Amino acid sequence: MDNLYALIMAAGKGTRMVSNRAKALHSLCGIPMLRMICRSAAALEPQAIFVIIGYDAEQVRASLEGCPAHFIVQKKQLGTGHAVITARDELEKHCGGDLLVLFGDTPLVKVETLRKLVEHHRCSGAATTLLTVHAPDPFGYGRILRDGNNHIQAIVEEKDATSEQKLITEINPGFYCFQISPLLESLERLSNNNAQKEYYITDLVEIQRREGRIVNAILHDDYEELRGINSREQLADLSLSLAKEKNRKLMADGVTLIDPNRTYVHLDVAVEKDVTIYPMVTLEGNTCIGEGCVIRSGTRILNSVIGPNVEILDSCLISDCRIDEGSTIGPSAHLRDHTIVGKNCRVGNFVEIVRSTLGDETCAMHLAYLGDAQIGSRVNVSAGVVTCNYDGFRKNATIIEDDAFVGTNSQLIAPIRIGRGAFVAAGSTISKNVPPGALGIGRAKQEIKKGWAERRRKNSKSDD
Ligand code: UD1
Ligand code: CA
Repeated sequence: MDNLYALIMAAGKGTRMVSNRAKALHSLCGIPMLRMICRSAAALEPQAIFVIIGYDAEQVRASLEGCPAHFIVQKKQLGTGHAVITARDELEKHCGGDLLVLFGDTPLVKVETLRKLVEHHRCSGAATTLLTVHAPDPFGYGRILRDGNNHIQAIVEEKDATSEQKLITEINPGFYCFQISPLLESLERLSNNNAQKEYYITDLVEIQRREGRIVNAILHDDYEELRGINSREQLADLSLSLAKEKNRKLMADGVTLIDPNRTYVHLDVAVEKDVTIYPMVTLEGNTCIGEGCVIRSGTRILNSVIGPNVEILDSCLISDCRIDEGSTIGPSAHLRDHTIVGKNCRVGNFVEIVRSTLGDETCAMHLAYLGDAQIGSRVNVSAGVVTCNYDGFRKNATIIEDDAFVGTNSQLIAPIRIGRGAFVAAGSTISKNVPPGALGIGRAKQEIKKGWAERRRKNSKSDD
Protein backbone atom coordinates (compact mmCIF):
# COMPACT_ATOMS: atom_id res chain seq x y z
CA MET A 1 0.00 0.00 0.00
CA ASP A 2 1.27 3.44 -0.92
CA ASN A 3 2.69 5.65 1.78
CA LEU A 4 2.26 2.94 4.38
CA TYR A 5 5.05 2.03 6.81
CA ALA A 6 5.00 -0.70 9.41
CA LEU A 7 6.72 -0.85 12.77
CA ILE A 8 6.93 -4.07 14.73
CA MET A 9 8.07 -4.04 18.34
CA ALA A 10 10.22 -6.94 19.38
CA ALA A 11 12.80 -5.52 21.75
CA GLY A 12 11.40 -6.97 24.96
CA LYS A 13 12.58 -10.09 26.70
CA GLY A 14 9.15 -11.47 27.48
CA THR A 15 9.77 -12.19 31.15
CA ARG A 16 6.68 -14.35 31.51
CA MET A 17 8.13 -16.86 29.03
CA VAL A 18 10.87 -17.66 31.57
CA SER A 19 13.40 -18.03 28.77
CA ASN A 20 16.92 -16.95 27.88
CA ARG A 21 15.68 -16.32 24.35
CA ALA A 22 13.67 -13.28 23.31
CA LYS A 23 9.96 -13.98 23.14
CA ALA A 24 9.88 -13.11 19.43
CA LEU A 25 12.05 -16.16 18.72
CA HIS A 26 9.66 -18.70 20.15
CA SER A 27 7.92 -20.59 17.37
CA LEU A 28 4.33 -21.38 16.57
CA CYS A 29 3.92 -24.43 14.42
CA GLY A 30 7.55 -24.14 13.36
CA ILE A 31 7.74 -20.42 12.61
CA PRO A 32 9.19 -17.83 15.02
CA MET A 33 6.33 -15.55 16.03
CA LEU A 34 8.08 -12.38 14.90
CA ARG A 35 8.65 -13.91 11.49
CA MET A 36 4.93 -14.65 11.24
CA ILE A 37 3.84 -11.12 12.02
CA CYS A 38 6.53 -9.73 9.74
CA ARG A 39 5.18 -11.81 6.87
CA SER A 40 1.66 -10.53 7.48
CA ALA A 41 2.92 -6.95 7.49
CA ALA A 42 4.91 -7.60 4.31
CA ALA A 43 1.77 -8.90 2.59
CA LEU A 44 0.39 -5.33 2.72
CA GLU A 45 3.43 -4.21 0.73
CA PRO A 46 4.33 -1.23 2.89
CA GLN A 47 7.15 1.09 1.81
CA ALA A 48 9.25 -0.18 4.71
CA ILE A 49 9.01 -2.41 7.78
CA PHE A 50 10.88 -1.21 10.85
CA VAL A 51 11.56 -3.81 13.49
CA ILE A 52 12.52 -2.62 16.96
CA ILE A 53 15.02 -5.00 18.49
CA GLY A 54 16.89 -4.96 21.78
CA TYR A 55 17.04 -8.06 23.92
CA ASP A 56 18.88 -10.88 22.11
CA ALA A 57 19.10 -8.54 19.09
CA GLU A 58 21.39 -10.66 16.91
CA GLN A 59 19.26 -13.79 17.18
CA VAL A 60 16.09 -11.81 16.56
CA ARG A 61 17.66 -10.27 13.46
CA ALA A 62 18.66 -13.73 12.24
CA SER A 63 15.14 -15.06 12.70
CA LEU A 64 13.94 -12.59 10.05
CA GLU A 65 16.43 -13.67 7.41
CA GLY A 66 14.88 -13.09 4.01
CA CYS A 67 12.18 -10.75 5.35
CA PRO A 68 12.31 -7.13 4.14
CA ALA A 69 12.97 -5.58 7.57
CA HIS A 70 14.95 -2.50 8.68
CA PHE A 71 16.20 -3.01 12.20
CA ILE A 72 16.27 -0.29 14.82
CA VAL A 73 17.97 -1.05 18.11
CA GLN A 74 16.25 0.07 21.31
CA LYS A 75 19.08 -0.16 23.81
CA LYS A 76 16.91 0.09 26.92
CA GLN A 77 13.36 -1.19 26.83
CA LEU A 78 11.61 1.75 28.45
CA GLY A 79 8.16 0.85 27.14
CA THR A 80 6.10 0.51 23.99
CA GLY A 81 5.88 4.29 23.56
CA HIS A 82 9.64 4.56 23.91
CA ALA A 83 10.02 1.91 21.21
CA VAL A 84 8.23 4.23 18.76
CA ILE A 85 10.35 7.18 19.92
CA THR A 86 13.43 5.10 19.05
CA ALA A 87 12.26 5.10 15.43
CA ARG A 88 11.80 8.87 15.34
CA ASP A 89 14.68 9.58 12.92
CA GLU A 90 13.28 7.12 10.39
CA LEU A 91 9.69 8.31 10.83
CA GLU A 92 10.63 11.95 10.28
CA LYS A 93 11.61 11.03 6.74
CA HIS A 94 8.04 9.91 6.01
CA CYS A 95 5.88 12.57 7.64
CA GLY A 96 3.12 12.33 5.06
CA GLY A 97 2.61 8.60 5.53
CA ASP A 98 0.74 6.26 7.84
CA LEU A 99 2.37 3.93 10.32
CA LEU A 100 0.96 0.52 11.14
CA VAL A 101 2.25 -0.47 14.59
CA LEU A 102 2.25 -4.12 15.59
CA PHE A 103 3.61 -6.13 18.49
CA GLY A 104 5.93 -9.06 17.92
CA ASP A 105 3.84 -11.26 20.21
CA THR A 106 0.47 -11.20 18.39
CA PRO A 107 1.31 -13.37 15.39
CA LEU A 108 -2.09 -14.77 14.40
CA VAL A 109 -3.60 -11.63 12.95
CA LYS A 110 -4.90 -12.03 9.41
CA VAL A 111 -3.61 -9.85 6.61
CA GLU A 112 -7.23 -8.95 5.80
CA THR A 113 -7.75 -7.57 9.30
CA LEU A 114 -4.65 -5.38 8.99
CA ARG A 115 -5.79 -4.20 5.58
CA LYS A 116 -9.21 -3.31 6.98
CA LEU A 117 -7.57 -1.35 9.80
CA VAL A 118 -5.49 0.70 7.36
CA GLU A 119 -8.37 1.26 4.95
CA HIS A 120 -10.74 2.36 7.72
CA HIS A 121 -8.04 4.66 9.05
CA ARG A 122 -7.53 6.25 5.67
CA CYS A 123 -11.23 6.66 4.86
CA SER A 124 -12.04 8.23 8.22
CA GLY A 125 -9.15 10.67 8.18
CA ALA A 126 -8.43 9.86 11.84
CA ALA A 127 -5.07 10.71 13.38
CA THR A 128 -5.09 7.30 15.04
CA THR A 129 -7.15 4.16 14.51
CA LEU A 130 -6.84 1.03 16.59
CA LEU A 131 -8.48 -2.34 16.94
CA THR A 132 -10.24 -3.44 20.08
CA VAL A 133 -11.87 -6.73 21.00
CA HIS A 134 -13.80 -8.30 23.87
CA ALA A 135 -11.66 -10.78 25.77
CA PRO A 136 -13.22 -13.67 27.69
CA ASP A 137 -10.53 -13.09 30.32
CA PRO A 138 -9.26 -9.50 30.03
CA PHE A 139 -6.60 -9.93 32.73
CA GLY A 140 -3.25 -8.45 31.73
CA TYR A 141 -4.55 -6.39 28.81
CA GLY A 142 -5.00 -2.65 28.57
CA ARG A 143 -8.72 -1.81 28.97
CA ILE A 144 -10.61 0.48 26.62
CA LEU A 145 -12.33 3.45 28.24
CA ARG A 146 -15.18 4.95 26.20
CA ASP A 147 -17.09 8.17 26.81
CA GLY A 148 -20.86 8.77 26.84
CA ASN A 149 -20.87 8.87 23.02
CA ASN A 150 -19.18 5.48 22.89
CA HIS A 151 -16.03 7.16 21.67
CA ILE A 152 -12.65 5.83 22.79
CA GLN A 153 -11.22 8.07 25.46
CA ALA A 154 -8.19 6.31 26.82
CA ILE A 155 -6.52 2.95 27.40
CA VAL A 156 -5.67 2.01 30.94
CA GLU A 157 -3.12 -0.70 31.66
CA GLU A 158 -3.98 -3.59 34.00
CA LYS A 159 -1.44 -2.37 36.54
CA ASP A 160 -2.85 1.15 36.53
CA ALA A 161 -6.53 0.22 36.40
CA THR A 162 -9.02 0.73 39.22
CA SER A 163 -10.97 -2.34 40.30
CA GLU A 164 -13.96 -0.96 38.42
CA GLN A 165 -11.94 -0.52 35.21
CA LYS A 166 -10.64 -4.06 35.55
CA LEU A 167 -14.21 -5.28 34.98
CA ILE A 168 -14.15 -3.88 31.42
CA THR A 169 -13.80 -6.69 28.90
CA GLU A 170 -13.08 -4.54 25.85
CA ILE A 171 -9.30 -4.68 25.56
CA ASN A 172 -6.41 -3.31 23.53
CA PRO A 173 -4.94 -6.17 21.48
CA GLY A 174 -2.16 -3.88 20.20
CA PHE A 175 -2.87 -3.02 16.54
CA TYR A 176 -2.65 0.64 15.62
CA CYS A 177 -2.52 2.84 12.56
CA PHE A 178 -1.15 6.36 13.01
CA GLN A 179 -0.78 9.34 10.74
CA ILE A 180 2.95 9.84 11.15
CA SER A 181 3.06 13.61 11.46
CA PRO A 182 0.62 14.01 14.41
CA LEU A 183 2.15 10.88 15.96
CA LEU A 184 5.56 12.54 16.06
CA GLU A 185 4.05 15.59 17.77
CA SER A 186 2.14 13.57 20.35
CA LEU A 187 5.15 11.43 21.19
CA GLU A 188 6.72 14.55 22.73
CA ARG A 189 4.02 14.48 25.40
CA LEU A 190 4.50 10.90 26.57
CA SER A 191 5.59 10.48 30.17
CA ASN A 192 6.42 7.47 32.28
CA ASN A 193 4.33 8.55 35.21
CA ASN A 194 2.60 5.18 35.79
CA ALA A 195 2.80 1.95 37.75
CA GLN A 196 5.52 0.45 35.54
CA LYS A 197 7.53 3.67 35.02
CA GLU A 198 7.35 3.02 31.28
CA TYR A 199 6.49 5.13 28.25
CA TYR A 200 3.22 3.60 27.06
CA ILE A 201 2.14 3.77 23.41
CA THR A 202 -1.39 3.43 24.79
CA ASP A 203 -1.20 6.88 26.41
CA LEU A 204 -1.23 8.39 22.92
CA VAL A 205 -4.98 7.81 22.77
CA GLU A 206 -5.71 10.13 25.66
CA ILE A 207 -3.06 12.63 24.57
CA GLN A 208 -4.48 12.89 21.07
CA ARG A 209 -8.07 13.08 22.29
CA ARG A 210 -7.04 16.01 24.48
CA GLU A 211 -5.33 17.62 21.51
CA GLY A 212 -8.70 17.41 19.75
CA ARG A 213 -7.57 14.83 17.19
CA ILE A 214 -9.75 12.06 15.84
CA VAL A 215 -9.01 8.69 17.41
CA ASN A 216 -11.09 5.75 16.28
CA ALA A 217 -11.40 2.31 17.83
CA ILE A 218 -12.77 -0.48 15.65
CA LEU A 219 -14.28 -3.34 17.58
CA HIS A 220 -13.10 -6.62 16.06
CA ASP A 221 -15.15 -9.78 16.61
CA ASP A 222 -12.51 -12.52 16.72
CA TYR A 223 -10.55 -12.56 19.96
CA GLU A 224 -8.49 -15.64 19.08
CA GLU A 225 -7.04 -13.91 16.03
CA LEU A 226 -5.78 -10.95 18.03
CA ARG A 227 -4.58 -12.86 21.05
CA GLY A 228 -1.15 -12.08 22.42
CA ILE A 229 1.34 -14.64 23.62
CA ASN A 230 2.84 -14.02 27.02
CA SER A 231 3.42 -17.48 28.42
CA ARG A 232 4.49 -20.94 27.31
CA GLU A 233 0.97 -22.16 27.91
CA GLN A 234 -0.46 -19.62 25.48
CA LEU A 235 2.31 -20.48 23.03
CA ALA A 236 1.38 -24.16 23.15
CA ASP A 237 -2.34 -23.36 22.86
CA LEU A 238 -1.99 -21.18 19.80
CA SER A 239 0.58 -23.45 18.22
CA LEU A 240 -1.76 -26.42 18.52
CA SER A 241 -4.68 -24.52 17.11
CA LEU A 242 -2.57 -23.49 14.11
CA ALA A 243 -1.42 -27.07 13.69
CA LYS A 244 -5.02 -28.26 13.73
CA GLU A 245 -5.95 -25.75 11.07
CA LYS A 246 -2.97 -26.84 8.96
CA ASN A 247 -4.03 -30.49 9.26
CA ARG A 248 -7.62 -29.66 8.33
CA LYS A 249 -6.32 -27.91 5.24
CA LEU A 250 -4.12 -30.87 4.32
CA MET A 251 -7.06 -33.25 4.61
CA ALA A 252 -9.21 -30.92 2.50
CA ASP A 253 -6.42 -31.04 -0.09
CA GLY A 254 -6.49 -34.85 -0.25
CA VAL A 255 -4.00 -35.97 2.38
CA THR A 256 -4.93 -38.89 4.66
CA LEU A 257 -3.98 -38.32 8.27
CA ILE A 258 -4.61 -41.44 10.31
CA ASP A 259 -4.76 -39.35 13.49
CA PRO A 260 -4.75 -35.59 12.89
CA ASN A 261 -4.32 -34.94 16.60
CA ARG A 262 -0.99 -36.73 16.56
CA THR A 263 0.45 -35.46 13.30
CA TYR A 264 2.73 -32.41 13.44
CA VAL A 265 3.10 -30.53 10.18
CA HIS A 266 4.76 -27.13 10.29
CA LEU A 267 3.08 -24.28 8.47
CA ASP A 268 5.47 -24.05 5.51
CA VAL A 269 5.40 -27.76 4.69
CA ALA A 270 3.74 -28.75 1.41
CA VAL A 271 2.08 -32.14 1.05
CA GLU A 272 0.56 -33.29 -2.24
CA LYS A 273 -2.58 -35.35 -2.57
CA ASP A 274 -2.97 -39.05 -1.81
CA VAL A 275 -0.22 -38.97 0.76
CA THR A 276 -0.90 -41.08 3.86
CA ILE A 277 0.63 -39.98 7.13
CA TYR A 278 0.56 -42.24 10.18
CA PRO A 279 0.47 -40.96 13.78
CA MET A 280 3.49 -39.33 15.46
CA VAL A 281 5.02 -38.04 12.25
CA THR A 282 6.65 -34.58 12.32
CA LEU A 283 7.25 -32.64 9.11
CA GLU A 284 9.29 -29.48 9.52
CA GLY A 285 10.76 -26.49 7.72
CA ASN A 286 10.54 -26.30 3.94
CA THR A 287 9.68 -29.93 3.46
CA CYS A 288 7.70 -31.03 0.37
CA ILE A 289 6.07 -34.45 0.20
CA GLY A 290 5.14 -35.68 -3.29
CA GLU A 291 1.93 -37.33 -4.39
CA GLY A 292 1.17 -40.85 -3.15
CA CYS A 293 3.86 -41.06 -0.46
CA VAL A 294 3.30 -43.08 2.69
CA ILE A 295 4.99 -41.94 5.90
CA ARG A 296 4.85 -44.35 8.80
CA SER A 297 4.83 -43.62 12.52
CA GLY A 298 7.63 -41.97 14.40
CA THR A 299 9.32 -40.38 11.40
CA ARG A 300 10.64 -36.82 11.40
CA ILE A 301 11.48 -35.02 8.16
CA LEU A 302 13.09 -31.56 8.02
CA ASN A 303 13.79 -29.32 5.02
CA SER A 304 13.63 -32.20 2.57
CA VAL A 305 12.05 -32.86 -0.78
CA ILE A 306 10.40 -36.25 -1.06
CA GLY A 307 9.38 -37.28 -4.59
CA PRO A 308 6.16 -39.06 -5.50
CA ASN A 309 5.30 -42.57 -4.26
CA VAL A 310 8.11 -42.76 -1.76
CA GLU A 311 7.48 -44.95 1.26
CA ILE A 312 9.12 -43.89 4.48
CA LEU A 313 8.80 -46.60 7.09
CA ASP A 314 8.70 -46.20 10.85
CA SER A 315 11.09 -44.11 12.95
CA CYS A 316 13.26 -42.42 10.31
CA LEU A 317 15.06 -39.09 10.68
CA ILE A 318 15.60 -37.26 7.39
CA SER A 319 17.05 -33.75 7.24
CA ASP A 320 18.13 -31.62 4.28
CA CYS A 321 17.73 -34.47 1.79
CA ARG A 322 16.14 -35.23 -1.54
CA ILE A 323 14.54 -38.60 -2.11
CA ASP A 324 13.30 -39.40 -5.58
CA GLU A 325 10.26 -41.20 -6.85
CA GLY A 326 9.44 -44.73 -5.75
CA SER A 327 12.16 -45.22 -3.16
CA THR A 328 11.63 -46.93 0.18
CA ILE A 329 13.40 -45.68 3.29
CA GLY A 330 13.61 -47.29 6.72
CA PRO A 331 12.53 -48.41 9.18
CA SER A 332 14.94 -46.57 11.46
CA ALA A 333 17.09 -44.94 8.79
CA HIS A 334 18.94 -41.67 9.31
CA LEU A 335 19.59 -39.54 6.23
CA ARG A 336 21.07 -36.07 6.49
CA ASP A 337 23.17 -33.18 5.17
CA HIS A 338 22.29 -32.98 1.48
CA THR A 339 21.98 -36.65 0.83
CA ILE A 340 20.27 -37.44 -2.45
CA VAL A 341 18.60 -40.79 -2.99
CA GLY A 342 17.67 -41.59 -6.61
CA LYS A 343 14.59 -43.31 -7.96
CA ASN A 344 13.40 -46.72 -6.76
CA CYS A 345 16.18 -47.10 -4.23
CA ARG A 346 15.85 -49.13 -1.06
CA VAL A 347 17.46 -47.83 2.06
CA GLY A 348 16.69 -50.10 4.97
CA ASN A 349 17.00 -50.73 8.67
CA PHE A 350 19.58 -48.79 10.66
CA VAL A 351 21.28 -47.27 7.63
CA GLU A 352 22.87 -43.86 8.08
CA ILE A 353 23.67 -41.77 5.00
CA VAL A 354 25.45 -38.42 5.21
CA ARG A 355 26.41 -35.98 2.39
CA SER A 356 26.06 -38.77 -0.14
CA THR A 357 24.35 -39.45 -3.43
CA LEU A 358 22.73 -42.70 -4.46
CA GLY A 359 21.87 -43.31 -8.12
CA ASP A 360 18.66 -45.03 -9.19
CA GLU A 361 17.72 -48.53 -8.01
CA THR A 362 20.53 -48.75 -5.53
CA CYS A 363 20.04 -50.79 -2.35
CA ALA A 364 21.51 -50.40 1.12
CA MET A 365 19.17 -52.53 3.13
CA HIS A 366 20.75 -53.18 6.51
CA LEU A 367 23.06 -51.59 9.06
CA ALA A 368 25.31 -49.49 6.85
CA TYR A 369 27.11 -46.15 7.27
CA LEU A 370 27.64 -44.22 4.06
CA GLY A 371 29.36 -40.86 4.49
CA ASP A 372 30.67 -38.55 1.74
CA ALA A 373 29.93 -41.27 -0.80
CA GLN A 374 28.99 -40.98 -4.42
CA ILE A 375 27.23 -44.17 -5.26
CA GLY A 376 26.01 -45.01 -8.75
CA SER A 377 22.91 -46.80 -9.98
CA ARG A 378 21.97 -50.44 -9.31
CA VAL A 379 24.66 -50.73 -6.66
CA ASN A 380 24.20 -53.26 -3.87
CA VAL A 381 25.52 -52.16 -0.52
CA SER A 382 25.22 -55.21 1.72
CA ALA A 383 24.65 -55.43 5.46
CA GLY A 384 27.18 -53.75 7.68
CA VAL A 385 29.13 -51.86 5.00
CA VAL A 386 30.96 -48.87 6.43
CA THR A 387 32.66 -46.05 4.59
CA CYS A 388 35.65 -44.99 6.68
CA ASN A 389 35.34 -41.36 5.59
CA TYR A 390 37.05 -39.57 8.45
CA ASP A 391 40.78 -39.90 9.07
CA GLY A 392 40.85 -37.71 12.15
CA PHE A 393 41.59 -34.59 10.10
CA ARG A 394 39.30 -34.47 7.10
CA LYS A 395 36.37 -36.16 5.43
CA ASN A 396 37.35 -38.26 2.40
CA ALA A 397 35.21 -39.40 -0.51
CA THR A 398 34.12 -42.89 -1.46
CA ILE A 399 33.07 -43.49 -5.04
CA ILE A 400 31.16 -46.62 -5.95
CA GLU A 401 30.37 -46.83 -9.65
CA ASP A 402 27.23 -48.25 -11.30
CA ASP A 403 26.37 -51.94 -10.85
CA ALA A 404 29.03 -52.58 -8.22
CA PHE A 405 28.41 -55.07 -5.42
CA VAL A 406 29.85 -54.39 -2.00
CA GLY A 407 29.74 -57.52 0.17
CA THR A 408 28.58 -57.77 3.74
CA ASN A 409 30.58 -56.20 6.52
CA SER A 410 33.13 -54.51 4.30
CA GLN A 411 35.01 -51.38 5.26
CA LEU A 412 35.89 -48.98 2.49
CA ILE A 413 38.77 -46.79 3.61
CA ALA A 414 38.36 -43.44 1.86
CA PRO A 415 39.47 -41.90 -0.39
CA ILE A 416 38.59 -44.93 -2.43
CA ARG A 417 36.93 -45.93 -5.70
CA ILE A 418 35.08 -49.14 -6.47
CA GLY A 419 34.87 -49.41 -10.26
CA ARG A 420 31.83 -50.08 -12.40
CA GLY A 421 30.45 -53.59 -11.95
CA ALA A 422 33.22 -54.56 -9.49
CA PHE A 423 32.73 -56.87 -6.51
CA VAL A 424 34.02 -56.40 -3.01
CA ALA A 425 34.16 -59.69 -1.13
CA ALA A 426 32.26 -59.93 2.14
CA GLY A 427 34.28 -59.06 5.22
CA SER A 428 36.88 -57.07 3.30
CA THR A 429 38.85 -54.07 4.44
CA ILE A 430 39.44 -52.21 1.21
CA SER A 431 42.13 -49.55 1.12
CA LYS A 432 43.12 -49.68 -2.58
CA ASN A 433 40.87 -48.83 -5.53
CA VAL A 434 39.05 -51.78 -7.09
CA PRO A 435 39.10 -51.46 -10.91
CA PRO A 436 35.92 -51.90 -12.95
CA GLY A 437 34.83 -55.52 -13.25
CA ALA A 438 37.39 -56.76 -10.69
CA LEU A 439 37.03 -58.48 -7.34
CA GLY A 440 38.48 -56.73 -4.32
CA ILE A 441 39.10 -59.03 -1.41
CA GLY A 442 40.87 -57.86 1.69
CA ARG A 443 40.36 -60.23 4.56
CA ALA A 444 42.63 -62.29 6.81
CA LYS A 445 43.21 -65.84 5.48
CA GLN A 446 41.18 -68.47 7.32
CA GLU A 447 42.90 -71.47 8.92
CA ILE A 448 41.28 -74.78 9.92
CA LYS A 449 42.65 -76.61 12.94
CA LYS A 450 41.13 -80.07 13.00
CA GLY A 451 40.06 -81.49 16.39
CA TRP A 452 40.98 -78.26 18.13
CA ALA A 453 37.72 -77.92 20.02
CA GLU A 454 37.98 -81.28 21.73
CA ARG A 455 41.56 -80.60 22.83
CA ARG A 456 40.55 -77.24 24.20
CA ARG A 457 37.72 -78.71 26.25
CA LYS A 458 39.96 -81.37 27.70
CA ASN A 459 42.65 -78.87 28.66
CA SER A 460 40.22 -76.61 30.43
CA LYS A 461 38.82 -79.53 32.47
CA SER A 462 42.29 -80.53 33.71
CA ASP A 463 42.74 -76.90 34.85
CA ASP A 464 39.91 -77.32 37.45
C1 UD1 B 1 0.77 -4.15 25.71
C2 UD1 B 1 -0.15 -2.95 25.82
C3 UD1 B 1 -1.50 -3.40 26.34
C4 UD1 B 1 -2.07 -4.44 25.43
C5 UD1 B 1 -1.10 -5.60 25.25
C6 UD1 B 1 -1.58 -6.51 24.14
C7 UD1 B 1 1.25 -1.04 26.36
C8 UD1 B 1 1.72 -0.11 27.44
N1 UD1 B 1 0.43 -1.99 26.74
O1 UD1 B 1 0.97 -4.66 27.03
O2 UD1 B 1 -2.39 -2.28 26.40
O3 UD1 B 1 -3.30 -4.89 25.95
O4 UD1 B 1 0.18 -5.13 24.85
O5 UD1 B 1 -0.75 -7.61 24.02
O6 UD1 B 1 1.61 -0.86 25.24
N2 UD1 B 1 8.39 -3.86 23.48
C9 UD1 B 1 9.49 -3.21 22.93
N3 UD1 B 1 10.14 -2.29 23.67
C10 UD1 B 1 9.75 -1.95 24.91
C11 UD1 B 1 8.62 -2.60 25.46
C12 UD1 B 1 7.96 -3.55 24.73
O7 UD1 B 1 9.89 -3.49 21.80
O8 UD1 B 1 10.39 -1.07 25.51
C13 UD1 B 1 7.69 -4.88 22.68
C14 UD1 B 1 7.73 -6.25 23.30
O9 UD1 B 1 8.86 -6.99 22.84
C15 UD1 B 1 6.43 -6.86 22.82
C16 UD1 B 1 5.50 -5.67 22.64
O10 UD1 B 1 6.33 -4.53 22.60
O11 UD1 B 1 6.55 -7.49 21.56
C17 UD1 B 1 4.49 -5.54 23.77
O12 UD1 B 1 5.18 -5.43 24.98
P1 UD1 B 1 4.64 -6.17 26.29
O13 UD1 B 1 5.58 -5.89 27.40
O14 UD1 B 1 4.31 -7.56 26.00
O15 UD1 B 1 3.30 -5.33 26.57
P2 UD1 B 1 2.06 -5.80 27.39
O16 UD1 B 1 2.35 -5.67 28.84
O17 UD1 B 1 1.58 -7.11 26.91
CA1 CA C 1 2.24 -8.62 25.43
